[in-house]
Amino acid sequence: MTHEKPVLVSGIKPTGDLHIGNYFGAMRQQVELVQSGKYRPFIFVADYHALNSMQDAEEMRRRTRELVMAYIAVGLDPEKVVLFKQSDVPAHTELCWIFDTITTMPYLQRAHAYKDAEAKNKEISVGTFNYPMLMAADILLYDAAIVPVGQDQKQHIEYARDTAEKFNRVFKTEIFKLPEPYIMPEVAVVPGTDGQKMSKSYGNVIPLFASREELTKCVMGIVTDSSGERPKNVYAMHRLVRSESQLEASYQEHQGSYKTLKEMLIEDLDRYLAPIRAKYEELKNDSSIVDEVLERGRH
Ligand code: ADP
Ligand code: TRP
Repeated sequence: MTHEKPVLVSGIKPTGDLHIGNYFGAMRQQVELVQSGKYRPFIFVADYHALNSMQDAEEMRRRTRELVMAYIAVGLDPEKVVLFKQSDVPAHTELCWIFDTITTMPYLQRAHAYKDAEAKNKEISVGTFNYPMLMAADILLYDAAIVPVGQDQKQHIEYARDTAEKFNRVFKTEIFKLPEPYIMPEVAVVPGTDGQKMSKSYGNVIPLFASREELTKCVMGIVTDSSGERPKNVYAMHRLVRSESQLEASYQEHQGSYKTLKEMLIEDLDRYLAPIRAKYEELKNDSSIVDEVLERGRH
């Protein structure tokens, strides 16, 4: 397959409510790159990956639809992208199987995500163990040149690269292209309200569709270090929605007044997120577009 434009591929699991770490760390870049017109983009709902942790059919259907609406709400133009559900395209799992036959267990045992899961002493499913191979298939199937994601996905893209190389070597072909991760350094790891990486599993998130009240609650809960002049965790979040030069003046002026700075952050976050939230609400009231998009995306 040769296409004029380089291919962009990315996916997100429909496993929980989106947070601003997902948005600033991954979705915003995906939308911007799609809108730039420089790529041939494929964005999908990674429902097979989600199946490792979410096994309620009704919830899967609901969250899949919500994720499609969320993508449209943050500005993804469904006319400019192939937006689809992973399980609608059997080639993902088929190629995953082929990769399984050339991949060794020790190699997969080195994955961070696997080691973390092991450390928690879980009885890990084969699907969780094999997660990187399905992701390699997701990416390599489309000849992806770039994969925009947050830092935590970097290793998975390395697995995809290794797998492409191994396949090409074993089968004496050049069929698979090596993808590059696209990770923006300033937002590679968006911190949560406790200063750690924002993640739905850490309970430190600011939901992407939070109401003003929820935003207030989350921001007021940001952990501040009482010894410093500048509340590090508040600032780290503030710089997502306002330029550092603008922030400099306010943080100087209100030095030590954490409450005022938090109130400013609430105001700025609310202003930034309000249009996204409004669009999402609008789509929730009429979600017929989701069916159209997914129907078109599967072909
Ligand atoms: P979570 O960590 O909350 O479970 P996911 O693993 O579903 O989030 O991540 C979906 C996408 O969002 C991935 O591309 C991931 O790299 C990105 N992402 C998630 N959290 C962050 C964060 N705190 N900073 C930057 N990117 C993030
Ligand atoms: N593993 C990714 C995450 O947790 C989701 C994902 C699945 C993905 N397949 C992909 C991302 C292919 C990019 C490309 O967020």
